[in-house]
Amino acid sequence: TLYPTLAAIAAYLVGSLAFAVIVSRAMGLSDPRTFGSKNPGATNVLRSGSKAAAITTLLLDACKGLLPVLAVRAWGRPYGLDEGTVALVALGAFLGHLYPVFFRFQGGKGVATFIGAVFGIHWLLGVATGLTWLAIAFFFRYSSLASLVAAVFAPAYYLFGHRLQWYAETPVALALAAMALLLAWRHRENIKRLVAGTESKLGSKKQS
Ligand code: G3P
Repeated sequence: TLYPTLAAIAAYLVGSLAFAVIVSRAMGLSDPRTFGSKNPGATNVLRSGSKAAAITTLLLDACKGLLPVLAVRAWGRPYGLDEGTVALVALGAFLGHLYPVFFRFQGGKGVATFIGAVFGIHWLLGVATGLTWLAIAFFFRYSSLASLVAAVFAPAYYLFGHRLQWYAETPVALALAAMALLLAWRHRENIKRLVAGTESKLGSKKQS
């Protein structure tokens, strides 16, 4: 259990790099924790007006989920690391993003890191989940709603893939379900705003 534990801790540390804060600082933009939804995530960085900063944040936060999964698959076998460790590092990176050790445990909502991990688990699963996000965002213009729907569908797609025998690992399915639940919990204020009709739409800047 030593190597899986070390891998999970390493993934947690990687996940703890709050790129919304780091990228905004590097690009001379205001700290995303001070405006809009106050969430350190790509959606809120977009509200600063910089698409480049938002896309950079999205990609780097996604890499936090993607790279640990790919690293375990590429180099883990000699250390006895299998799909159980893939599940652990995905969860570790995700928890790092939500509760970052470098940022007083005040992190984001996990969407980009979740999608990155999902791409690492299986590229088709990533494409399906990413397209789900894009479709909801396109039709409804709410980033949060798109994230919630994509998170619910990802474990379902995984189980569907299981039936088609692309992949079939219980720990990974459980990790996906756990991440989806945590993601929904982190969106509880967004859910209240969606129900109340006060959630901010994509493309509208909110500097409160
Ligand atoms: O990436 C998080 C997104 O789903 C919602 O972000 O800033 O609108 O709360 P935000």
